Amino acid sequence: MSKVNIQKLIAVCVCIIFIVSLGGCIKFKIDLSKLKKTEATTQSTTTTTTTTKAGPKATDKLVALTFDDGPYTPVDTKLYEIFEKYDIVATFFVVGNRCENYSDSLKKMNDLGCEIGSHTYSHQNLAKVGAGEIKSQMMKSADVIYKISGQKIKTMRPPEGATNDVVRGNVTYPMILWDVDSLDWKYRNAEKEYNRIMETVQDGSIILMHDLYEATAEAVSKVVPKLISEGYTFVTVSDLMEIRGVKPEGGKVYTDVHPPVEETTTEVTSVSSTVSSTSERDSYDTED
Ligand code: NI
Repeated sequence: MSKVNIQKLIAVCVCIIFIVSLGGCIKFKIDLSKLKKTEATTQSTTTTTTTTKAGPKATDKLVALTFDDGPYTPVDTKLYEIFEKYDIVATFFVVGNRCENYSDSLKKMNDLGCEIGSHTYSHQNLAKVGAGEIKSQMMKSADVIYKISGQKIKTMRPPEGATNDVVRGNVTYPMILWDVDSLDWKYRNAEKEYNRIMETVQDGSIILMHDLYEATAEAVSKVVPKLISEGYTFVTVSDLMEIRGVKPEGGKVYTDVHPPVEETTTEVTSVSSTVSSTSERDSYDTED
């Protein structure tokens, strides 16, 4: 091969290498811009997803339905249908020694996003027993609820609303009472329960009911759409406190989380900690 030919060959090779690398560069650029586009799309999708999820605000009208003495499948099933229809949640203060018998209902409570609190292990009036029994009642109920539903309790309701210094000193969960008493255990009548609730409910109320009575489920089926039409949002008691900026304290009694009162008086009481009347049904008789 002559010197000239070799030079030509080298020139051709250089050209080829140049063209190939140029092509590579362009392709890389295109890939890079594609990648950037994809990233941008992903980011905008993420942003859209985040902005569409807005929970209830402190300024919304909030209310918490609470049910004591269950679980009890025949009534719970009816309540779950209402909750699913209106896409709402509630709080159940369950009795520990009933949980094994109604385990499916307890699981469903958790699946629906409802809060499960303790109503002690055997519906024990805690004001009538000592520190050891109080702790045992709380521990045993928390354990069985967690074992079956997977939910760790954050709140409790003392049976009959009964508390004293020993109870307050030994219960490590916030003690949730109520400001609206449906008196369902006494009425066993949906219309009476409905009227009682609608006459006394206000923003931040905690409504007391028992998931033992058919009439209670019927009352709930009327109360829920009515309160929704009045602009209420249903929340669990723990969410009610969190949304309104109340930090739950163990052993402290809460009856409601009404919105903060305008500072026209010297005393501002956003959370009432007064013990409401112990008008919960005073005897515990199993219905099943
Ligand atoms: Ni009770």
